Amino acid sequence: MLFSALLVALASSAISAPSLLSRHVLHEKRDGTPHLWEKRHRATPSQVLPIRIGLRQRNIENAESYIYDVADPDSPNFGKHWTAEEVANVFSPHPDTKNAVVNWLVDSGVDRSRLSLSKGHNWVQFDGTVEEAENLFATEYWHFEHVENGGHRLAVDAYSLPEHVQKHVDFVMPTVQLDGLKPVANTIHGGDALAKMPQGETLGSLPCGQLITVECLRKLYKFPAGKTAAAGNEIGIAEWADYLYGPDLPLFFKNFTDPEIPADTKPEFIAIDGGLTANLTTIAIGSGVEAALDVQSAYSIVHPQGVRYYQVGDGINVDSVGTFNIFLDALDESYCTYEGGDQPYVDPAYPDPNDNNLGYQGPLQCGGAPKSNVISDDETHTDEKNQGALPYFYQVRQCHEWMKLGLQGVSVLYASGDSGVANRYNSGYPNSCLNADQLFVDNNGTRFSPSFPVNCPYITSVGATTLIGNDTESGERAVSVPSTGPANAYYSGGGFSNIFPLPSYQASAVQHFNEHYAPNYGPNVYNTSGKARGFPDVAAIGLSVATVWNASLYGVGGTSASTPIFAGIVTLLNEARIAIGKGPIGFLNPTFYKHPQAFNDITIGNNPGCGTDGFNATPGWDPVTGLGTPNYEKLLPIFLDLP
Ligand SMILES: *[C@@H]1O[C@H](CO)[C@@H](O)[C@H](O)[C@H]1NC(C)=O
Ligand SMILES: *[C@@H]1O[C@H](CO)[C@@H](O)[C@H](O)[C@H]1NC(C)=O
Ligand SMILES: *[C@@H]1O[C@H](CO)[C@@H](O)[C@H](O)[C@H]1NC(C)=O
Ligand SMILES: *[C@@H]1O[C@H](CO)[C@@H](O)[C@H](O)[C@H]1NC(C)=O
Ligand SMILES: *[C@@H]1O[C@H](CO)[C@@H](O)[C@H](O)[C@H]1NC(C)=O
Ligand SMILES: *[C@@H]1O[C@H](CO)[C@@H](O)[C@H](O)[C@H]1NC(C)=O
Repeated sequence: MLFSALLVALASSAISAPSLLSRHVLHEKRDGTPHLWEKRHRATPSQVLPIRIGLRQRNIENAESYIYDVADPDSPNFGKHWTAEEVANVFSPHPDTKNAVVNWLVDSGVDRSRLSLSKGHNWVQFDGTVEEAENLFATEYWHFEHVENGGHRLAVDAYSLPEHVQKHVDFVMPTVQLDGLKPVANTIHGGDALAKMPQGETLGSLPCGQLITVECLRKLYKFPAGKTAAAGNEIGIAEWADYLYGPDLPLFFKNFTDPEIPADTKPEFIAIDGGLTANLTTIAIGSGVEAALDVQSAYSIVHPQGVRYYQVGDGINVDSVGTFNIFLDALDESYCTYEGGDQPYVDPAYPDPNDNNLGYQGPLQCGGAPKSNVISDDETHTDEKNQGALPYFYQVRQCHEWMKLGLQGVSVLYASGDSGVANRYNSGYPNSCLNADQLFVDNNGTRFSPSFPVNCPYITSVGATTLIGNDTESGERAVSVPSTGPANAYYSGGGFSNIFPLPSYQASAVQHFNEHYAPNYGPNVYNTSGKARGFPDVAAIGLSVATVWNASLYGVGGTSASTPIFAGIVTLLNEARIAIGKGPIGFLNPTFYKHPQAFNDITIGNNPGCGTDGFNATPGWDPVTGLGTPNYEKLLPIFLDLP
């Protein structure tokens, strides 16, 4: 689509305003229409859009130095985490930024009384018509339809901003973002490898090679049972599209925990934006395995410490990739938008406009949800480079939000994905690799497709291993479950970002891999520059993990099984620090990469995809299993020594 670089027809007033003289420059562009979306017809000029302009934050360029200051073991300020207020103050946009954007809008005919600012002063928001938005952003709004599920979006192919405003803006919504609400129905539990086990089993009744229980994990990773029930070190588990079925917990506790967890033990339940409706006493098809796995494995490791369970979203908005944001909103007021709702075309809107008001009808929850020292997130992913999903600026901004949690002492762990070097989010892509120009995921694509958010360098990304033989002595290898159908193979997600640069904590580890073990697929297959963020950071067992779901025993797999296991061990390490009067560790990666010897290096296996064998698990860090799996006995003295 072509449009004039000059903004012409603006609302009547303010002919002499300088903004009108300012040339519009391209800000974001999506090349073509992504797979399964079709561009239908122009939007009605009078339709009202909730317009949000993300203001460029101050000091973001210092993000890396701030986080190293509190998270690098060699920093004198290690562990001196920031308060939420400090975070808000340091990053809130410069007044000039707000003024430039507001003055431009006002000069362009948007009455000042229509504008509002988010609490953290990070967003300017107003309701405007399609016509206004088309003029402001020198663009055209079109209806796009998802050909499989009939979902609609109003979106643009590209938009521009006046030159003097552009430097103050991260991005504008709704514009080029296309994926969002319910793109495609999820398969059960997002595709984790799942096997129903013989029933009647208990701890130790099957070899670890067949069923991973907490006993197996203790042998493998050499960690003790939790000791204290002290409040304040609950492990945070966030669930988006999966709901906890209460009656399974006591069944799991009885058969699979040691010491046995009392039957009436329940997570602290934090309902975010309608999550309460998900507190199920009946079980629904297609829900619950993930939540059962996460909560049960976390409990078996951390008890008597508690589990804080964040149920995010109301079960109607759940498929939105923007759901990450409602979680961040609830944890961090400064990320929260203007009263009443995120942008409904990408972020779920509350009150939920979908499904005839069956969704959550309260306001968006802004701040106030308790933070946990360790947060384990499930596997919801999107393709880093599928520009229909989450454009560059959006990913960068959200990555900085995870960084802000790290500054406040929170460890955020994320599953690296279950599709090796490919990426499965948004099924409908049997292949999920990128086309050669790395613009889109394409059924015939051959380029590796790193996923968001694990490409973000401020997250600890967790890959998956499995036992080689029947007992823990046999050791671990990268997980390998070859395909039994079109797209259901399971390999540890890993690779190199095309968006985020190599963080310095990782530089020598990645260099070692590149010098000795990089495959020679060439730059058309993955980012071979040696300057890109590599993931995962670490790994843990992610196959045949004992889980009781709907009163039956399953062996569940997925990097989303590995993540709560790893997060549980970090919670035990924090417990030991708290017991000697120290604080939680916060952002983990700088410490981990300085101590590779504290991990069991995984050197067998690979993560195939996109018509290749993927990468190999190799000595040292590798983009399949990262630094390897944890050895608590070796990590403990390191953690205790840190200030
Ligand atoms: C727990 O163990 C008992 C005794 O072996 C068995 O009858 C029961 O089926 C087991 N429950 C689950 C959920 O595996
Ligand atoms: C459901 O939520 C209520 C209120 O928060 C709580 O009392 C109850 O224990 C929860 N039930 C389950 C099964 O988690
Ligand atoms: C849960 O188990 C019951 C009893 O075995 C069964 O009837 C029901 O279909 C199961 N629910 C799901 C969602 O599989
Ligand atoms: C992918 O290849 C198939 C044949 O193998 C072809 O029919 C299809 O059009 C191709 N799709 C794209 C997006 O190029
Ligand atoms: C593991 O044990 C099962 C029986 O419990 C046996 O069938 C299988 O061969 C064993 N596998 C290995 C690798 O030893
Ligand atoms: C590879 O990563 C670097 C560092 O982030 C980036 O500058 C470069 O554009 C990436 N290359 C490709 C082809 O995406």
